[in-house]
Amino acid sequence: MLLQSTLRFNYIWKSMTLDYRLGRVSLFLLACFLTSACLVFWRLPTVRRFHPPSPKPARPKNASIISAQDMGITQEEWDRLRKACDWPGPDGEITRLDQSTSPVHTTFSVEGLNDTYKVGDTIRVTITARDHNNTVKSYGGDFFRAKLLNLTLKAGVYGEVVDHSNGTYTVDFLLPWEGQAQVDVFLIISSEGVHVLNKYFESKPHIRYHGYFEGPGADGVKIVEKVECNVKWGSAHAHWSKANCCCEYKDVQTGSVWQCERPRNLSCDYWVYHEHGEHQFPATPFERQLFSRKLTNVGIAAEKHIITVLPNASGIGEPERCRPGLTTPVPAGFYFQDVWKSFVCNTRRFNSQQRTSCLSNKILHFLGDSTTRQYFEFLERNVPGLKRMNLYTHHKNGPLMAVELKNNIIMHWRTHGFPLRFPKMPASDLHYISTEMDYITGGRETVVVFTFSAHMTLHPLTLYIHRVAKIREAVLRLLKRSPETTVIIKSGNTGLTAMEYGNEWYTRQLNTVMREMFSDIDNVIYMDVWQMTSCHYTHVNIHPGNVIISNEIDMILSFVCPS
Ligand SMILES: *[C@@H]1O[C@H](CO)[C@@H](O)[C@H](O)[C@H]1NC(C)=O
Ligand SMILES: *[C@@H]1O[C@H](CO)[C@@H](O)[C@H](O)[C@H]1NC(C)=O
Ligand SMILES: *[C@@H]1O[C@H](CO)[C@@H](O)[C@H](O)[C@H]1NC(C)=O
Ligand SMILES: *[C@@H]1O[C@H](CO)[C@@H](O)[C@H](O)[C@H]1NC(C)=O
Ligand SMILES: *[C@@H]1O[C@H](CO)[C@@H](O)[C@H](O)[C@H]1NC(C)=O
Ligand SMILES: *[C@@H]1O[C@H](CO)[C@@H](O)[C@H](O)[C@H]1NC(C)=O
Ligand SMILES: *[C@@H]1O[C@H](CO)[C@@H](O)[C@H](O)[C@H]1NC(C)=O
Repeated sequence: MLLQSTLRFNYIWKSMTLDYRLGRVSLFLLACFLTSACLVFWRLPTVRRFHPPSPKPARPKNASIISAQDMGITQEEWDRLRKACDWPGPDGEITRLDQSTSPVHTTFSVEGLNDTYKVGDTIRVTITARDHNNTVKSYGGDFFRAKLLNLTLKAGVYGEVVDHSNGTYTVDFLLPWEGQAQVDVFLIISSEGVHVLNKYFESKPHIRYHGYFEGPGADGVKIVEKVECNVKWGSAHAHWSKANCCCEYKDVQTGSVWQCERPRNLSCDYWVYHEHGEHQFPATPFERQLFSRKLTNVGIAAEKHIITVLPNASGIGEPERCRPGLTTPVPAGFYFQDVWKSFVCNTRRFNSQQRTSCLSNKILHFLGDSTTRQYFEFLERNVPGLKRMNLYTHHKNGPLMAVELKNNIIMHWRTHGFPLRFPKMPASDLHYISTEMDYITGGRETVVVFTFSAHMTLHPLTLYIHRVAKIREAVLRLLKRSPETTVIIKSGNTGLTAMEYGNEWYTRQLNTVMREMFSDIDNVIYMDVWQMTSCHYTHVNIHPGNVIISNEIDMILSFVCPS
């Protein structure tokens, strides 16, 4: 029946294209009603506002100016993305450290603190940013993290910080659990620090990479040549000399180009290994001071406050069943006794038996970076009988594969393509997500979970947009040929705190872009783990602990097996 409908659909689709060309639309409509196959047609992936731009792969005239066209998006979308990524900050250059936000003088307080509250109430917290002279800041742009916690109850909820652009910020917290709670606010980076990050956003890459070429030398003895490699994008590539530029490795599907210095004795075909190199954040010595340990990721002082929350008979309503196309509210949920109660949808708790039955006859593809490898590793430990195959790859670099024969569970993990900040590994194991996606047939049994963030914080935003545009096209192709495929996008985690390794603020901007660019596509699941990784009582970590991963897996499985 399904096959028949598909065949019929293919026929209709072909005849429609033909008819359109010949101008015989009425014939198509007639055929459509006669075969009632139009129903199949109208139930295809719904894509609301998204229109792929018309292709025009022309080289930019001035390579340092990347246009919407170079990124593969429309001008309207580029305007929309720029607006979404807009961030307030100082008007001019910062020349003295004492003008920057001081975590010591910055304070926060709970507005109109009452003796007791009820579950479901909200409280408002006001943060007042001050410089090192204890003067209230006159502009916004500070990057804070705010959460409401109770360590004894292993409870936490995220608060969104609203910037009033005058040195004051407010955070509204929902009080979702019964018991006591306290507010924690951290200054992640001062407004001045964010200004520096923003200034160097497009002048990336902030990292170098190495390529290893291995092959026979002049006398037939194997030689190894190590050269520098990086992404070819705009003008921010080749800092090596023109004379030995370059070996280019172009991905046909996406047009992405990876280039390496030309080795002296071997041809470009002998490229074997990829490896990350040195970080190279271009900040001046003065700018670096804004990122010192004393000034970043510091807890903010507050008057002593304890929020006492009493039960509320009406409680908080149950969210709906997990399905694609849902948006993430603030808060997205909360931790209580280390269990994440989602407000996005009704997440279930899975024990190992339920995990097995949910995953039986499924093919899982985890793509991206070490944060999706954590999912692979978690399931490997927590699905009985799931065993890793020996693919003769490094256990951290992958690709990895595990199988469970009794229930026919197949699980894959591999990294995304270049650029990737990984230890030395075979270059041929780095596949672009979009290209990899094109080789996945898809279907009811297929679950694709990908992330694309942590390694892109070291590269220009425009490159990121280009890559996400290509991934989006590949996702749409996958869902067109196999509408029943489960596609889950995992957002970037919090916890990139060092300036050199890309920064949490960059992650936030990349998440904004990913969410915006997929917002019109109803049948993918955007799993926003920003809040989940931000409001747990443990210290934020780009690789969250087992408790958080376990909750994220429950979320994934709730989408795969909602009931
Ligand atoms: C390209 O644009 C950059 C930035 O606007 C500018 O500094 C540079 O001079 C331009 N180069 C050419 C060749 O026009
Ligand atoms: C901070 O105080 C010092 C010493 O009183 C003064 O020289 C400096 O101008 C002040 N800086 C700002 C930003 O107000
Ligand atoms: C605190 O209590 C007062 C008086 O009962 C009430 O009017 C006010 O809304 C409460 N404030 C909050 C934040 O709940
Ligand atoms: C109880 O919770 C509901 C739902 O969140 C909320 O609308 C209501 O205001 C709360 N009632 C009281 C008395 O706090
Ligand atoms: C800052 O702006 C907010 C919102 O406009 C306002 O409520 C607050 O009073 C202002 N604070 C100061 C110190 O000007
Ligand atoms: C957490 O809540 C419990 C119960 O309300 C309370 O006894 C405890 O003091 C609270 N702990 C913290 C760290 O707030
Ligand atoms: C490359 O060949 C030249 C001579 O042809 C030799 O001097 C040089 O050492 C070789 N380099 C490597 C890396 O083998």
